[in-house]
Amino acid sequence: MPDLLGDMRRTHSCCELGTEDIGKEVILMGWVLRRRDHGGVIFVDLRDREGITQVVFNPQVDEAVHAKAHAIRNEFVLAVRGKVDPRPEGMVNPNLKTGAIEVLVTELKILNPAKTPAFLIEDEIDVSETIRLKFRHLDLRRPQMQQNLILRHQSTASVRNFLNSQGFLDLETPVLTKSTPEGARDYLVPSRVNPGQFYALPQSPQIFKQLFMISGFDRYYQIVRCFRDEDLRADRQPEFTQIDIEMSFVGEDDVMDLTEGMMTALFKDVQGIDINPPFSRLTYAEAVGRYGLDKPDTRFELELADVSDIVGGSSFKVFANAVEKGGVVKALNAKGCVKFSRKEIDDLTDYVTVYRAKGMAWIKVKENEWQSPIAKFFTDAEKQALAERIEMEPGDLVFFVADQAKVVNESLGNLRNHLGRKLDLIDDDKFDFLWVTRFPMFEYDEAEKRYQALHHPFTSPLEADLVRLEDDQLAVKSRAYDLVLNGFEIGGGSIRIHQREVQEKVFKALGMDRESYERKFGFLLDALDAGAPPHGGIAIGFDRLVMLLCGESSIRDVIAFPKTQKAACLLTGAPSKTSREQLEELHLRLRPGIES
Ligand code: AMO
Ligand code: AMP
Repeated sequence: MPDLLGDMRRTHSCCELGTEDIGKEVILMGWVLRRRDHGGVIFVDLRDREGITQVVFNPQVDEAVHAKAHAIRNEFVLAVRGKVDPRPEGMVNPNLKTGAIEVLVTELKILNPAKTPAFLIEDEIDVSETIRLKFRHLDLRRPQMQQNLILRHQSTASVRNFLNSQGFLDLETPVLTKSTPEGARDYLVPSRVNPGQFYALPQSPQIFKQLFMISGFDRYYQIVRCFRDEDLRADRQPEFTQIDIEMSFVGEDDVMDLTEGMMTALFKDVQGIDINPPFSRLTYAEAVGRYGLDKPDTRFELELADVSDIVGGSSFKVFANAVEKGGVVKALNAKGCVKFSRKEIDDLTDYVTVYRAKGMAWIKVKENEWQSPIAKFFTDAEKQALAERIEMEPGDLVFFVADQAKVVNESLGNLRNHLGRKLDLIDDDKFDFLWVTRFPMFEYDEAEKRYQALHHPFTSPLEADLVRLEDDQLAVKSRAYDLVLNGFEIGGGSIRIHQREVQEKVFKALGMDRESYERKFGFLLDALDAGAPPHGGIAIGFDRLVMLLCGESSIRDVIAFPKTQKAACLLTGAPSKTSREQLEELHLRLRPGIES
């Protein structure tokens, strides 16, 4: 195999040369973005990860090289030697960093030809994501994707720098491990040498990082892959990356201060943006009360108003019945939207039914009257009270949902986000961080008929609520916090339980008996008995964070090789069938009807 490069070595990237280099002999290497043949002179835009340089094949400069250049097509890989020349008058491209010069080629090597690509390598392409993922090696050549992954790299570097400077140790944890409960299903790996036994891939390194604290490492971090078998969305992948952090001898404020410092350094380092800590804080109850969601987008106002006390006794049965059954009625005032058509209101109603709302009532506030299918049900006093509570003014359109609190909050909270976009209330250049604190420790799972940990079972309850662990679980608040950015949950953490008795009580509150928690978490309980320091930490969803830093709306655009909604990798074809022999070796047999 001849060495194609010969004595040629790059002297510059494709984004480096300018007027100060005129007259120099240079060597560039890269891909052909496009080729134009202009009356005997061939122009090629040569691309590498840094940018584009125009290289010119002119028969008057070198006839043989020009003749050879006829073979060049898009995406061919070239090495060119040539002289930097100013572009002729009128041909300067001010949009291109190298737009004032071109390279007159005197030597050309076609390092590799390329088949016609499935799509053009440029930012604005009109192809489905399926095609992009199937030809990901081409998709990743597009400048936007290159920028995203470079920014991802810069973010990792910034975070490592910051945490290293704060005395954190970057320590690794196993990938073949035991179930780590974070609320999703586990990915299981069968053990060949232990028939019938399985490893679980970690949903997070939660227990291991606590063990590091118990072992005395004091400050740990890891930029680490986590695996969760759950329903996928634009901001969820089956494998994703966390900036995982744990600290000893700390309370909530210490973890929050550290995180704010890390975010401040990161935004400055990679985007030159000043974000100004301290970040705002809301308790879970405040966030859900005012915005309907525990991850509110605080870039715009549009808050919910609880009107249960006003309409609970009204003659509108839908509202009165909801309140009587322990539910609530909340309102959202879409300021200035009185002009919405019936069709628009119907569409918004369809939107909230996705969140299980059974209907949505509305009032249009006109100059001297309310236009509304429900106005007739209210007395003057009720109308007066509603107008005050909801701050109704002529021009407003008010929406109401009545149901159990969870349904009302989810539907109006999501409607709020929807209206924020529809009414253009959101400043896209803004980065609004928010801490949400004091989460409930447990929620009741109707399907499974038992309590579940809202964060994870290692989160410490508030000291004052320890007495409620046995008989008033839903009232127990935890020392957990989430970090929210522009309506996305980008991180979550807590102060942990560091005492065995408390941990056992929490396991019991979750419906586990001694045998079951000893089997699953005996090693953690033993460690808690061995002198565990008070400790706490956080994990930042790195993909979501980078997505927001890049201004993208899907984490798939900041992950090099992501999976589809069906958890498939279209590039490699994973997951795929396996051979009978391999299954035998793993002591597995497929259910009849499923082929290997
Ligand atoms: P949690 O489960 O909240 O906490 O996860 C931390 C953050 O990870 C991100 N995230 C995801 N990102 C992409 N795809 C997913 N499937 C996905 N799931 C979660 C979110 C989330 O806020 N061990 C605890 C942390 C701790 O207590 O220290 C944990 O994993 O941005
Ligand atoms: P109905 O009595 O079913 O004709 O409903 C009268 C109005 O109340 C309609 O505008 C419905 O959309 C609305 N509505 C019905 N159910 C609810 C609910 N759970 N919350 C709020 N509005 C509702």
